[in-house]
Amino acid sequence: MCGIVAYIGHREAYPVILKGLKRLEYRGYDSAGVALLNGGLKVYKKQGKVADLEETLVGKDLHSNIGIGHTRWATHGEPCDRNAHPHLSGNGKLSMIHNGIIENYVQIKKELVSKGYEFVSDTDTEVLLKFIEDIHLNNEGSLEEAVRIALKRVVGAYVIVLLDADNPDTLIAARKGSPLVIGIGKGEHFLASDASPIIEYTKEVVYVNDYEVAIIKKDELILKNLGNEKITPFITKLDLELAAIEKGGYDHFMLKEIFEQPSTIFDCLRGRLDAHNGTITMSGIQQYADQLVNANRIIIIACGTSWHAGLVAEYIFEEVTRIPVEVEYASEFRYRNPIVNKGDVIIAISQSGETADTLVAIESAKSNGAIILGVVNVVGSSIARTSHGGAYTHAGPEIGVASTKAFTGQLAVLTMMALKIGLMKGTLSEKRFIHLLNELNDVPEKVSAALLQHEKIREIALKYQDAKDALYLGRGYNFPIALEGALKLKEISYIHAEGYPAAEMKHGPIALVDENLPVVFVATKDSFHEKVLSNMQEIKARKGKVIAVVSEGDDAADALADDTIIVPYADELIAPMINVIPMQLLAYYIGVAKGFDVDKPRNLAKSVTVE
Ligand code: G6P
Repeated sequence: MCGIVAYIGHREAYPVILKGLKRLEYRGYDSAGVALLNGGLKVYKKQGKVADLEETLVGKDLHSNIGIGHTRWATHGEPCDRNAHPHLSGNGKLSMIHNGIIENYVQIKKELVSKGYEFVSDTDTEVLLKFIEDIHLNNEGSLEEAVRIALKRVVGAYVIVLLDADNPDTLIAARKGSPLVIGIGKGEHFLASDASPIIEYTKEVVYVNDYEVAIIKKDELILKNLGNEKITPFITKLDLELAAIEKGGYDHFMLKEIFEQPSTIFDCLRGRLDAHNGTITMSGIQQYADQLVNANRIIIIACGTSWHAGLVAEYIFEEVTRIPVEVEYASEFRYRNPIVNKGDVIIAISQSGETADTLVAIESAKSNGAIILGVVNVVGSSIARTSHGGAYTHAGPEIGVASTKAFTGQLAVLTMMALKIGLMKGTLSEKRFIHLLNELNDVPEKVSAALLQHEKIREIALKYQDAKDALYLGRGYNFPIALEGALKLKEISYIHAEGYPAAEMKHGPIALVDENLPVVFVATKDSFHEKVLSNMQEIKARKGKVIAVVSEGDDAADALADDTIIVPYADELIAPMINVIPMQLLAYYIGVAKGFDVDKPRNLAKSVTVE
């Protein structure tokens, strides 16, 4: 949450920062701002999106070779110009951007108020900045030292970057909990929350670790810990192309990402699944395969859409490995003194690899001796780095705030893991393993076929766009897909939607059914199919409108539904990856029909780096 960009070097800083902020807007878009050194410290900020800030700055002299910028997802204080970053110190000499939350800011603020400090914003950031300023003014040492002293007192999460009018050739940054990447150019440095603002300038980056402070000049990068000891920066080469973060002719990133799924799933399977030789190779879990085979329990930790992938994985793992699986919301798991024993394996699922709750939950499980396997999309992210092993989903940068291609990548990875462990354990027969392996291999093609339904889905979206509520139902492997369908609709179109196991609908939601309620059934052929058809009858009997996702050739389901979306048949273990496609497209087309900004839905952020 919140995106930060900073630049120091020979270029004009403003265009670099502005472009970078646009790429990071998925992290929040309540306000945007920049601070530059141009005949003194100049701060420009504005409520709204980066484009609103850009508009107000047209024609201004923004010349500067150093600067910091921020796009905000509000935590402390409403979205408004006053609460926008960068913030200014009391004497106007320092400016700071911040991503994260300072939990003990009330106490620190009290102390500063008693010393006569005044505050113009409601933010925790301004408190931290003035705290650093106060230490700096009362201390002989450098600003860098004041930062270290302040951060030792701070409880919470942060990435901060400071611009100092008295030191126009230095930026100071620090990290704990929130992400910070530093790009190393020739006589220039780029700082950002992720690599997307950096890739067009350099592929050499340093991922700053927790409790590290960076002192950055044009041609020098010094990393230190909070004890003032130097740390050698570890330089990584980015494996990311510019085209991957551009819209490529689509109206929205979300649509592009939905349509990319045949190739992203293929990329995820490539080099791992060998249908010809009947093998699955996953180097990142190889070392932990025995622990998985002998695990007493698997605990899956995730949030949001990733949690739904975890639910599908629960069904698959229990079926093929017979290991008990629990799926936990990371935010609940971390605060309830969970029972984690040696012999438990934790699987953490996260697109961004930066979700604060997931990260902290992992750390607490790790301290109990559990093995942590990460299923992560963003290479080099915090969760990827803190996990013992795991597998990347290889979906490429996901920029639309609502997760789509990362979800199918997560399912592909988790399915491969389950099949491999099931075979090793002997709970999955060789014959069924080979069958499922081939089914998995066919997923990219079947997803392509499901995507061909887009025009039909758009028509259905136009028909139901004015609905006030919607119900999504499915059983077994399709129940989490119903949950995911409802979540997508809420996120993108702001229509209230609930996902339920189809049978459970009789214990409450059925009371909502009338001729105005669209009920989306994920009703492809599986072991529960006849039961799902009965549930459809129950909705029809109460005049509800049934939209059904059905398998090719299923005339019975087709006849029952008001609107049908046909997808290729797949084994029930594999089908969720295909059945989710209509869920994504339906939400997308309804959101677009209602005129909403589907890539940046209100109040949401892609990467939730605050608790
Ligand atoms: C936010 C995003 C969701 C995502 C969730 C978990 O809510 O808007 O799309 O599923 O965070 O994020 P993660 O990066 O951990 O998968």
